Amino acid sequence: MNLPLNKGKVLSCLEKVLSNIAGIKVITAISDELRVCNFLKDGYQPLFPAIHVNEAVINTDTSVCLYTEDEVGVITSTASISWLNGEIVPEVWMEEVALNNKNNDVTLQVGRFYIRGMKEQSLLKLYFKCFVELANTLGVSTITGLVKGKDLRLHEVRFKADVLVRNTDLKFGSEHEFALVQWRFNSLDSCFYHWLGVVQHTNPGTFTAQDWNDYARSFASVQTQVQQELQQEAVRYLNGNVGDFGCGCAKIGLILSDSERVRSYIGIDASIEMINIAQVLLEDIEPINEQSVHHGFIEDYNGSPFDTGVSLNSYYSWPNPLATLKHIYSLIEVGGTFILATPNKSLDLILLEKQAKKELIAHPDYKKFREHNLKLINDKDANLVEMSELITQVQSVGFKIEACHQEYYCGGLNFLVLSK
Ligand SMILES: C[S@@+](CC[C@H](N)C(=O)[O-])C[C@H]1O[C@@H](n2cnc3c(N)ncnc32)[C@H](O)[C@@H]1O
Repeated sequence: MNLPLNKGKVLSCLEKVLSNIAGIKVITAISDELRVCNFLKDGYQPLFPAIHVNEAVINTDTSVCLYTEDEVGVITSTASISWLNGEIVPEVWMEEVALNNKNNDVTLQVGRFYIRGMKEQSLLKLYFKCFVELANTLGVSTITGLVKGKDLRLHEVRFKADVLVRNTDLKFGSEHEFALVQWRFNSLDSCFYHWLGVVQHTNPGTFTAQDWNDYARSFASVQTQVQQELQQEAVRYLNGNVGDFGCGCAKIGLILSDSERVRSYIGIDASIEMINIAQVLLEDIEPINEQSVHHGFIEDYNGSPFDTGVSLNSYYSWPNPLATLKHIYSLIEVGGTFILATPNKSLDLILLEKQAKKELIAHPDYKKFREHNLKLINDKDANLVEMSELITQVQSVGFKIEACHQEYYCGGLNFLVLSK
């Protein structure tokens, strides 16, 4: 089997990471292996009798085992990291992870945590800091592990980690039920990094999933006339199996819900809040065709190709638009159509706002919608692309231009009808 990582690489990255995290050590010698094993047998095994601990499992060719000691060299905690599916998180649940990641995204599995004594929180933080920095150094974007039900709230609600399976039925002989959780670095809340004491070196202009999460509620409830016109125009081209890339709260899905030309609609979005709202709305509208949403990055989506696709007002936030367009191209059937709409530099938000205000001034979410909208376009590095550049890009990934114009958003929007 081709493994994405090898032990030599992981150990050399760990060395770099641990040079800045005092206290955590990696097992390298057999004597340490034995000591950690005894420590686990004493404290951990009685708590989780179904997990077998011995020298052969704690330090393998596809995992590393970390530990801490007190001032006199007595082991106080340990944790393991593996990059072989099934080695820490059982294989069956790693399949669930693969479904979520779609692509062959590598994730680091973490587990066999055992912290003895009073310093639980501070050691837990230290380990997480190590996992995050190791993953960063290795170029891995997620870590995955099993979390006791009682600790789930912290990771889910405060840190915005993804709960992939809430009830795994795994107890390992203990009274706790474990949930399967994934920490995806570009969608975690800043309070996670604050908790770790890690400064996030992200460009403040970069769009994050959190920006969209914060926008979701007002974005779902407020709808301006220019948005409606755009959506109505886009859906004219959609039929068969439809993919909506950066679907937000699936407004296109709602419009298509009674369309007989459409067999299925799949909305893909990286913001969990947008997706949660989309799910509720699509259920409520009782579509006549198959409709679903997928939480994840467009670039990671690997389902079957679509007959037609659409992406409205999402392009301007893509960090690498060519790569995203290339991936979308691979997801459209030969002969299929893709509708792309994104603002250009002549977007006049003040003018659009003046128009929208007349109809929406009394809407309870309008103020929030307006402020957030302005903030996204003005404070972030929104990529307001000229039509000519966009045409060069879409052609370079293989699309043919069937039509293009700037008739919406008072000239501030590029609208392209593309074919494959
Ligand atoms: C302004 S909203 C537009 C939503 C929807 N297309 C509409 O017009 O109603 C932009 C959406 O794109 C999503 N998005 C941006 N980049 C993405 C990416 N790389 N993968 C998935 N979703 C992305 C954001 O999460 C956000 O919900």
